[in-house]
Amino acid sequence: MKTGTAPAAPGALPLIGHAGRLARDRLGFLEDLRALGPVVRIRLGRTPVYVVNSPDLVQRMLVAGNGVEFDKGGPFFDQATQLVGNGLSTAPAGPHRPMRALLRPVFARHRLPRHTERFRDCALEVSSAWVPGQVIDAYTEMKRLAVAVLARTLFLAPEDRQAVEAVEAVEAVEAVEAVQRNVPLLLSALATRMMVPGSNRLPTLENLRYARAARETRQAVGAMVRRRMSDRTDHGDLMSALVPPDRPAIHTEQEVYDQVITFFIGGTETMAGLLSWTLHLLTGHPREYERLEAELSAVLGDRPVTHQDLQRLPHMRRVLNESLRLHPPVWLLSRVTLVDTELAGHRLPAGAGVLFSPYSLHRDPAVFAGPERFDPDRWLDARVERRQREAFMPFGAGARRCIGDAFGLAEAQVALAVMLRRWRVRAQPGSRPEPLLRMTMRPQGVRLVLDRRAH
Ligand code: HEM
Repeated sequence: MKTGTAPAAPGALPLIGHAGRLARDRLGFLEDLRALGPVVRIRLGRTPVYVVNSPDLVQRMLVAGNGVEFDKGGPFFDQATQLVGNGLSTAPAGPHRPMRALLRPVFARHRLPRHTERFRDCALEVSSAWVPGQVIDAYTEMKRLAVAVLARTLFLAPEDRQAVEAVEAVEAVEAVEAVQRNVPLLLSALATRMMVPGSNRLPTLENLRYARAARETRQAVGAMVRRRMSDRTDHGDLMSALVPPDRPAIHTEQEVYDQVITFFIGGTETMAGLLSWTLHLLTGHPREYERLEAELSAVLGDRPVTHQDLQRLPHMRRVLNESLRLHPPVWLLSRVTLVDTELAGHRLPAGAGVLFSPYSLHRDPAVFAGPERFDPDRWLDARVERRQREAFMPFGAGARRCIGDAFGLAEAQVALAVMLRRWRVRAQPGSRPEPLLRMTMRPQGVRLVLDRRAH
């Protein structure tokens, strides 16, 4: 096929290219680009970057092209490696393959029933602190929940707290607290660094806080990692899967540390975003909210949610899917071309940055009818089309698909089941939620009033 350069998006300014538009109106800009064709060229500063708008081409990049024509990299990416070192999400395709195989058992499905208990404990703890009439900021509360879940599932199974010798329990608690305190700080500083290249070298207050947060986290989590690497007990948590007690160590201390931090980075803002967007959507759609409450009452009655229940909550799964379609927490992803390559007849030179946006793919009216509408029933088996499943990429696709997808969906289901059985939430009058685009897309200003349910 004859190949040519991809069409350039209009409106580039001399020095900054499209960076200004991208900074001002990211979602609108990405949706406008979709209308220009399957592959569009923009400029960030002087550097050309290709934006891929077609689900088929994105699937090709992520599945067949992964490690051959495309790899992790591209704009905004390099800063992330500063924080997570050589963790799974930043590893290039070569080392990624064996690393992923080693980590697969950490998120094995047979561990989910046990994690479900942790999800439930954490959701109970967070929602028990609420009082009737209180107004909560949904994202803040859901982030507290997501950090607690990871801290517990990684290295502090509660039944172990009494059993383990005192010093280890103290270390585990310190590690959990250090993570709870510092991870939100690390993430927000990282977002600034990704958006403003070079900002990590400035002596700003945020950078000083970042350095202190990174030091504290390293000390506390490092101590925990060291202890668990010399410990021979299976605690049934994610750390025991990462450092199996019955086998010789397969990771160095640094590698284990990098993976632990990677899980925290991958599994907190995303989860907090999913849960708070979902609560926001439910409060705005009373009929869907009532259907969900009815499903929860029918399936759970008065007993606590268990892992077996999760398959019996299909409407909840469709609500979560629809929330992920409309508000995918990972809204923009990047890759780099490994060789000169071609997409839809357009030539992409080796080393080029490539962007694609799950947000924009999920709102393409050619794929999803009425894309702005919140309609959980579009995910009914009888209604959903194959091309819609293929265009739906909240967890990515192919070899780099989210390793925590089943864990995250189970966590979301349990959290919603616990919270919505105890509380009825409604939007605070006058609140106007907006998406805030950082490393993840989160809702800002989802203020919810809490009423106790009769349950
Ligand atoms: C709603 C929740 C979540 C969403 C929307 C989400 C989204 C994603 C996406 C889109 C990717 C692919 C990135 C790419 O292709 O460049 C990814 C990868 C990853 N996620 Fe998640 N994630 C979620 C939850 C979690 C959780 C709970 C964990 C861990 C506890 C996790 C850990 C990871 C890791 C380690 C990777 C890298 C996988 C690899 O490169 O092999 N994520 N996630």
